[in-house]
This record gives sequence, structure tokens and C-alpha cells, in this order.
Amino acid sequence: MIRVSNLVKSYGELKVLDGVSFDIEQGEFIVIFGSSGAGKTTLLNILATYDKPDEGEVIFDRINIINTSENSLERFRIEKIGFAHQSSYMIECLPLYENVALPLILAGFSKQEKEKVVAKLLKEVGLEDKAKNRPSQLSLGQKKRACIARALVTDPRFILIDEPTANLDVANKERILALLSQKQKGGATIIVATHDQIVTKHAKVLELTNGKLVPLETEGGV
Ligand SMILES: Nc1ncnc2c1ncn2[C@@H]1O[C@H](COP(=O)(O)OP(=O)(O)OP(=O)(O)O)[C@@H](O)[C@H]1O
Ligand SMILES: [Mg+2]
Repeated sequence: MIRVSNLVKSYGELKVLDGVSFDIEQGEFIVIFGSSGAGKTTLLNILATYDKPDEGEVIFDRINIINTSENSLERFRIEKIGFAHQSSYMIECLPLYENVALPLILAGFSKQEKEKVVAKLLKEVGLEDKAKNRPSQLSLGQKKRACIARALVTDPRFILIDEPTANLDVANKERILALLSQKQKGGATIIVATHDQIVTKHAKVLELTNGKLVPLETEGGV
């Protein structure tokens, strides 16, 4: 499970997170909803271990990721976390296929396993014909799907995706959300940040507003 307690994060005078607390059980699918600038990316970057709060705790299973050393965090990220940053960062000198395979290489998967898993995932996100393209030869929506594939490739226990449906048409949004639901059924815990109403129909929704996280009433949600 994930337990987040009293997270506070400010940029100068701007208090973006003002006491964010929530618990997520293993296998839950949580949507963090909120307007642009509400602090969703700030929160997700902290949960993904790439940023630190000014105050508060984040516990994944029994590990407090806030005071864990950088060395131990590296291992934890490789073994447990699949993360796709909002900006779809990829390594330009590597083709799409190798970008998606990176977490498998870090986790020590064999070449055979790597080829099998990457081919399957590229098909699932609809990018099998782009495997050899460099990132700059991809559209924004294709990059987004590639980064989601990379986040899922090791079948991680915790999946964090920032704006999973950004730059995608409706069919691709549904494809990605179905893939995430499938991972949830397989036991993964999923947290996504979005301002896309389509996503809120798929999961339990919490709204980030005025630095606090509160349940949001939606048709298909809470
Ligand atoms: N490094 C930084 N320095 C100063 N201010 C920052 C920094 N990062 C974010 N902010 C500010 O913090 C607030 C929250 O930003 P954040 O990116 O978390 O919002 P968001 O909810 O993800 O927005 P969007 O939906 O547009 O992605 C914004 O007002 C932003 O300008
Ligand atoms: Mg954001």
C-alpha cells in the first residue's frame, strides 16, 4: 500500500501542496484530478521519488521514500516503480524500441525476455511500426504512448503516469486506459494525474485543489 502523510511543498511564496494525505491500497486505481497549476505534477514527482517535499512522509509498503538514501532509491525505482513524466522524456540517440527497453536492461532481464516484452507492449500501445524511429521522429501522442509503454515494461508494482491521455485521440485514450485497467487487475497500484474528464470515469478520483486532496464526486468515480 501507499501512505501519504501531510505533504507540504512550496516554491518560494507559493504553497503548492498544503498538507496532502491519503492512503492507497494495493491494486487500487487512483486519479488525481485538478486544474492546470493545481500541483498534480509536483505531487506525482514526489511520489515517483524524483522530488522531495518540504514536510511529510510517503510510505510504499514499509519503505519511507522521503528519507531513503539515493542508492537504495535507485534500486527501489528499478524494481517497483513505473513512471511516465508529463513531458515524455526520451533519449534521442536511441530508437523507440531501445527507449522502451531501458528499464528491462536496468533490471537485468535477458535479451530474449526483453525482445518478447517490448514487442508485446509496443503492439498494445499501437506503436509496433515505429520501433526503429528516433524520439524526434514521433508525434507527441506517440511519444506519450512510448513513455507509458516504458513505464509498464517491467510490470511494476506501482505505476505512476502524469497526463496519460495528453495529445491522444479518443481511440488511443481508451486503449491506454484499458491497458492500465488490465495492469490494475494484475495487481498493480496505479496513480495517474490528469485534467481529462475521460480518465475520471475509470477509477477513484481525488481532486487536488488549494493544495489539498479531496474526494471528487463523479458519475463513474467515487
Ligand atoms: N520548479 C518550480 N519553481 C517554481 N514554481 C514551480 C516549479 N514547479 C512548479 N511550479 C509551480 O507550481 C504550481 C504547480 O505546478 P504543477 O506542474 O505541479 O501543476 P499541474 O497541476 O501539474 O499543472 P498542469 O495540469 O498544467 O500540468 C504551478 O503554479 C507552477 O507554476
Ligand atoms: Mg502537470
